[in-house]
Amino acid sequence: MRQQIAAANWKMNLTLDQATHLLDEILKAPHDLQAHQKVVFAVPFPYLLLAQDKISGKLNFFTAAQNCYTKSSGAYTGETSAEMLQSIGVEYVVLGHSERREYFGESNAMLEEKAGMALTYGLTPIFCCGEALQVRESGAQNDYVEKQLKESLFNLSEEQIQKMVIAYEPIWAIGTGKTATAAQAQEMHAHLRNVLARQYGDTVAGEVPILYGGSVKGSNAKELFAQPDVDGGLVGGASLIAADFGQIIDALK
Ligand code: PGA
Repeated sequence: MRQQIAAANWKMNLTLDQATHLLDEILKAPHDLQAHQKVVFAVPFPYLLLAQDKISGKLNFFTAAQNCYTKSSGAYTGETSAEMLQSIGVEYVVLGHSERREYFGESNAMLEEKAGMALTYGLTPIFCCGEALQVRESGAQNDYVEKQLKESLFNLSEEQIQKMVIAYEPIWAIGTGKTATAAQAQEMHAHLRNVLARQYGDTVAGEVPILYGGSVKGSNAKELFAQPDVDGGLVGGASLIAADFGQIIDALK
């Protein structure tokens, strides 16, 4: 059965005390999760070990880094390698978030390297794609997102692509309160699955979780996650509010 994931993307938010409190609040609530349902906390690097500690012994809970570098080690001041993340027990890494593409110049080619590096060290990349408003308004969103996938992921083997998680995050919906409708999300997710199927076949494409991101809230998660090709969400703002994120976890189908 395809995995369902509620992933919290904290971005560059919270102090240590606030992070501790938020994790405690979320984790103390009972969640009736099945084996294929997972919760992932993509926290800032300084809180990864804390989050690892808090989720230890909890079967459906995992941590993610928000980035990693293209090289495995060396003189790259300020960067963090996939091997380092693996060595502290992190399982996931968010790659290619639109904020990293826009503010830090991450290209499809660079993300291809990062995805390869993450997979080499046993991390599951949560690979983000998504179009800006003007692309959506021109009607070119399907081609745009297809190109992001092709240029970053299509050199991966069948075995590797099955280890990926994809997150479709339309930039116009991120942090704007303007969520894609459930129908818009489903349409794009079905397109992405077709793109994967053309390259890797239906069986492989059917295994890859595709998350929706962009103003997911407790109040709209259920409708979004009910779509056949929407396998959960990558959640920014609402993941910083324990009650909201709790509702999002409970919306996994
Ligand atoms: P948002 O962010 O939920 O605040 O829109 C989502 C994201 O950027 O991953």
